[in-house]
Amino acid sequence: MKAWDAVVRLLHWTLAALIVFDLIYDDGGYTHRLVGYAAAVVVLLRLGWQALARGHSLRPSIAETRAYIRLLLAGKPPRSAGHDPLGLWMVWLLWILVLLLALSGWMSRLDVFWGDERVEEVHAILANLLMLAVLLHVLAVSVMSVIWKENLPAAMVTGVKRPPG
Ligand code: HEM
Ligand code: HEM
Repeated sequence: MKAWDAVVRLLHWTLAALIVFDLIYDDGGYTHRLVGYAAAVVVLLRLGWQALARGHSLRPSIAETRAYIRLLLAGKPPRSAGHDPLGLWMVWLLWILVLLLALSGWMSRLDVFWGDERVEEVHAILANLLMLAVLLHVLAVSVMSVIWKENLPAAMVTGVKRPPG
């Protein structure tokens, strides 16, 4: 069954590439800034696409997440056609961190903050949080791929998953 449309897939891998680039080339130079702003634009495009195309819901639910964690701990987490309830919190964390990085990166260059290290410190902390979140995201995707015996990264390339249930 169709799990991810072409736009979602294209934006996902574009975002991943831009983030990895900026985490490696972190000199704050012209390319770093351009790539960082591009990443923020990709997130905004993704949210705009959600409004247009109405894909899988992006609304996290505490009740669903609780039920899902219970089943996860019992060793039988249900598969889902789109994001799983726990993964959805991570999706928002990743997007919000990217937007805050663009904001803090922009702010760090403003004249009002000239000579003030605090904005750059916040930017560096956000970048470290994003790196941790990405590692956790990839780890979770790998673990769930094994548990569900389904290659989730491949599904994010082809767009196709086995139907749930
Ligand atoms: C900087 C790196 C990355 C970022 C910021 C990122 C971010 C995201 C986001 C925001 C989503 C939600 C997709 C949407 O609805 O638009 C997602 C889903 C997904 N990502 Fe990543 N991602 C990154 C790297 C990776 C890598 C390296 C892999 C492969 C190992 C991967 C595999 C996936 C998969 C399989 C999903 C769908 C999850 C599911 O099936 O429930 N991501 N990612
Ligand atoms: C997703 C986007 C971004 C990521 C992951 C990211 C990551 C990083 C990292 C890891 C550093 C090094 C921090 C340190 O240890 O000192 C850095 C520095 C910097 N970034 Fe970004 N960044 C992003 C976006 C931006 C944007 C949009 C701007 C726009 C102006 C920007 C401007 C800067 C500047 C000026 C520095 C140098 C600060 C210094 O001199 O210490 N960044 N960034």
